[in-house]
Amino acid sequence: MSLEQIEKEIINCQRCNLATNRTKIVFGTGNSEAQIMLIGEGPGKDEDLQGLPFIGKAGQLLDKILAAAEIKRQDVYIANIVKCRPPSNRVPNRQEAAACLPWLWQQIEIIQPQIIVLLGSTALKNLIKPDALITKLRGQWLESKSGIKIMPTYHPAALLRDPARKKPVWEDFQKIRDEYKKIINTN
Ligand code: URA
Repeated sequence: MSLEQIEKEIINCQRCNLATNRTKIVFGTGNSEAQIMLIGEGPGKDEDLQGLPFIGKAGQLLDKILAAAEIKRQDVYIANIVKCRPPSNRVPNRQEAAACLPWLWQQIEIIQPQIIVLLGSTALKNLIKPDALITKLRGQWLESKSGIKIMPTYHPAALLRDPARKKPVWEDFQKIRDEYKKIINTN
């Protein structure tokens, strides 16, 4: 199975009620052989219209953070917990996330990243543990059973609301940058 095949398969997805209001499915984008995968929450207005993740204001900030960490956006793969926009950008609920997660697991299996960056609480809770707190776990490396290094950090939209979070996010991305450099230098 390739990423393109999965994307084709889900074009008419009706697994949850987010299908009702979506304009486009936001499957994910980037390098299919990326060493780093970034996972956000769900599409916003701009993403829903264009079918691409992180292209609105939060995405522009993410671009700046990646550039500062010397990570090229074209070298990473970016996806979300849910692939359709929740109404008024509300947090996707457990059923919506559960319906959508099998696609994300398949994407991770195909890409086989060495690093996964969890952008915000929704990604953390749905991929690690429902009661995990982003304020507690951000900035610490976690590891999956298969050895993927996982770094939770704040969502870029949270930085737009609260600029005091910029400093911790920059600290987290410095750790990500250092780990990424190690990986690309040994490959
Ligand atoms: N916020 C997200 O979590 N994902 C996007 O794709 C855009 C904004």
